[in-house]
Amino acid sequence: MSQTVLITGTGRPYALGFNLVRRYLENGDCVFATVRRPSEALEALRKEYSDRLHILTMDISSTESVSAAAREAGTLTSHIDLIINNATTASADTMKELPDFDLDQIAPAVNVGAVGPIRVLKAFLPLLKNSEMGALVVNISSEAGSIGKCYRTFYLDYGTEKAALNMLTMTMHNYFKDDPNINIICLHPGWMRTNPGNHEAPLDPYEHAETLRNLFETKRHDKDGPVFITYAGEAYPW
Ligand SMILES: NC(=O)c1ccc[n+]([C@@H]2O[C@H](COP(=O)([O-])OP(=O)(O)OC[C@H]3O[C@@H](n4cnc5c(N)ncnc54)[C@H](OP(=O)(O)O)[C@@H]3O)[C@@H](O)[C@H]2O)c1
Repeated sequence: MSQTVLITGTGRPYALGFNLVRRYLENGDCVFATVRRPSEALEALRKEYSDRLHILTMDISSTESVSAAAREAGTLTSHIDLIINNATTASADTMKELPDFDLDQIAPAVNVGAVGPIRVLKAFLPLLKNSEMGALVVNISSEAGSIGKCYRTFYLDYGTEKAALNMLTMTMHNYFKDDPNINIICLHPGWMRTNPGNHEAPLDPYEHAETLRNLFETKRHDKDGPVFITYAGEAYPW
């Protein structure tokens, strides 16, 4: 059964968001792909899938921008079955330690990486509630957001935004506990070659997007399973 999917942060052809868009389109689904700025790669994909790919401009750091995108989506569809909150950010200081790190970079990163996905959830909730198959929200987190497993002395912005995203995900999971029609999880997707300069990472984003697509279908109605999971579907420590 085909579904309607919204995926954020989809403009970079080598990154995860774009490759998830490709996989859902290849599977016959309808996709709302969101970007901050025009993407040539997505425009090329739209030529191939003009009937099923909608491109929305949405900056997840802005409530106004997210609300406008949700209004636009509402003119094109009655429902959304899956939201993949993939967009994220990290400052130029992210690899630096305390003495060299500009602490004022943390709050804007949290605004994008943690508050952004919940902004999207809130604005698109009326469409999620119209899902007939039961809606799923997947927040793409990271092992870097695990407090229990934290070993780094850097990632002051990125680690904090992902830990905050995990907390918000669990709080939303509790909020929707008694609603059989909506589930929400967060995921450590694994280390992927999502940067043209990164040849070391083991996972190819296009191949991996299919693993994730299959995993998400096992989580749609799994309200009692682990909420923070790995790409193998196993619980990851908070
Ligand atoms: N790559 C890995 O190995 C790895 C490991 C663990 C977790 N993850 C997580 O997996 C997800 C995908 O990773 P990736 O490496 O493919 O990501 P990425 O290449 O860093 O892409 C991030 C996307 O987010 C968008 N974005 C940034 N700020 C935004 C904003 N304010 N509003 C809307 N969109 C915004 C970017 O848009 P622009 O193109 O306009 O900048 C970009 O398309 C992320 O959540 C990441 O944290 C990745």
